[in-house]
Amino acid sequence: MMTNQPDQYAVMGNPIAHSQSPRIHTLFAAQTGQRLEYRAIRVEPGGFAAAARAFRDAGGKGFNVTVPFKQDAWVFADLLSARAERAGAVNTLSFEPTGARGDNTDGPGLVRDLKINHGCALAGRRILLLGAGGAARGVLQPLLAERPAQLVIANRTASRAAELALRFGDLGPVTGCGFADLAGRSFDLIVNATTAGLSDAVPPLPDGVLTADGWCYDLMYGREPTAFVRWGWERGAVQSLDGLGMLVEQAAEAFHLWRGVWPETQPVIAALRG
Ligand code: ATR
Repeated sequence: MMTNQPDQYAVMGNPIAHSQSPRIHTLFAAQTGQRLEYRAIRVEPGGFAAAARAFRDAGGKGFNVTVPFKQDAWVFADLLSARAERAGAVNTLSFEPTGARGDNTDGPGLVRDLKINHGCALAGRRILLLGAGGAARGVLQPLLAERPAQLVIANRTASRAAELALRFGDLGPVTGCGFADLAGRSFDLIVNATTAGLSDAVPPLPDGVLTADGWCYDLMYGREPTAFVRWGWERGAVQSLDGLGMLVEQAAEAFHLWRGVWPETQPVIAALRG
């Protein structure tokens, strides 16, 4: 079909009104000279597959998926990248002649933000991952691929952490426990993948859990520093970062999958901070 319409992309979620993704991808497109349009689509509960098909049938090239549809997208995809398969969640779909390809760029986005933007070494370090929900599952494989000395998953419901550790155990030294089990242990990097921040709370962590030169990273971000970012500052973290950089980096990974070019992320992160 010959058309003069720019290639169409989107992000689907609910709620979606405050999504930064349209702005990020529009900035990437302008910067790289790619002709495309990217919009936010609010999908009603239970309506994901129909919305995905409608977007594809209208000629859409691909779209991002956010809360609460990443598992629906995993089911919807005709083929999955290894990391998406493992995560059990898809945040990027590409419509290709062979079908809808599902990938998960969240974990790679986190690793790129830590390593490239902030120079945080992960190999040989002790990493603590807080939470055992979808967000935690999405970052486990890319974190383990960096070969940490150990990766401990701690969760309010300890059994969920143990299950998750079991599921990823073939990829590296990963174990699961409850928060109280962390007493007497310390870590070089603590990544918060819980939703405690939604009520401005931080999981109950024992004193000394962050080493003297440790880092903190919250997958969440907001206009104000998150509760976990503040927690890190209060405990003398070398750096205590929110998830804005990860958001832009996961978008860059998706943009690269779709368009075959890497956008510069620093100016976009700076624009969003401003
Ligand atoms: P997501 O997909 O964003 O990870 P989720 O699957 O609902 O969301 O998972 C939320 C995570 O945050 C879980 O690990 C949850 O702990 P439980 O498994 O025990 O429910 C964790 N969480 C939510 N609120 C929390 C709080 N106030 N303190 C500590 N952990 C919390």
